[in-house]
Amino acid sequence: IRHLLSGADLDADTATQILDTAEEMAAVAGREVKKLPALRGRTVVNLFYEDSTRTRISFEAAAKRLSADVINFSAKGSSVAKGESLKDTALTLQAMGADAVVVRHPASGAPHRLADWVDGSVVNAGDGTHEHPTQALLDAYTMRSRLGRLAGLSVAVVGDVLHSRVARSNVLLLSTLGAKVTLVGPPTLIPVDIAAALAPGTGVCYDLDTVLPSSDVVMMLRVQRERMSDSYFPSAREYARRYGLDGPRMARLPEHAIVMHPGPMNRGMEITPEVADSSRSTIVEQVANGVSVRMAVLYLLLGGNNR
Ligand code: CP
Repeated sequence: IRHLLSGADLDADTATQILDTAEEMAAVAGREVKKLPALRGRTVVNLFYEDSTRTRISFEAAAKRLSADVINFSAKGSSVAKGESLKDTALTLQAMGADAVVVRHPASGAPHRLADWVDGSVVNAGDGTHEHPTQALLDAYTMRSRLGRLAGLSVAVVGDVLHSRVARSNVLLLSTLGAKVTLVGPPTLIPVDIAAALAPGTGVCYDLDTVLPSSDVVMMLRVQRERMSDSYFPSAREYARRYGLDGPRMARLPEHAIVMHPGPMNRGMEITPEVADSSRSTIVEQVANGVSVRMAVLYLLLGGNNR
């Protein structure tokens, strides 16, 4: 593949190839061995129009550990503030020789437009409420490394599905890889048609407590208050009572089950500190795995030394 814009871009073979390559990259990502020369002479641009901690830093670390040159572009402090368009910004980066552009943008579909304008590879690092495919890949990697497989796993994706690009990409990718996904949350935050539209077999349940005992993975989503009005989010306390994962709820999970969260977390709302910091939580591991997975994505898109 030339670009990575959506979880739907990945068939099972390609997704598995990325996860297998990420496994090979793990020693370099974890700095146990020195960096690889695979992308020497290539330039990766991080083009971020929205805030990020994990994604931007891990793409930078991934590119550097493959010996690529990295240019970090933040819309704040750039000519975007003077009104420069995404297209003109993209063409400027292209003129500076970007081989790959990693883009985060508040508008759903922005990475797809960018892919029409630049010659290099485009990686979607989160577009609006649409998709975040490398997050889904690092989540799948984490599940596979903790539980040994993806096919047949029961994964509950819990909370603010409506605004979650992480949920969309996870549903698409996990379904391709044979996991069974159930979306859990209040009816106002799970659009009626989302499960059917994303992937056949994806279920919906409005009661977290009934789903937990049969889940191998419970993935808590950040409540994105900045994207919603009070009309469908009446009370943080009520939300936490019905859909927050706390100690007693975690005890309903099977012994082997893991708890995930893409970050950043609202501690005390969708997840309590007791759960986030427990041995079942893979939250920090997900961040570390993000570097290996993003190394694999850049390596495979840019073709290593073969391009
Ligand atoms: N999970 C995630 O995308 O985190 P950031 O917003 O910090 O990149």
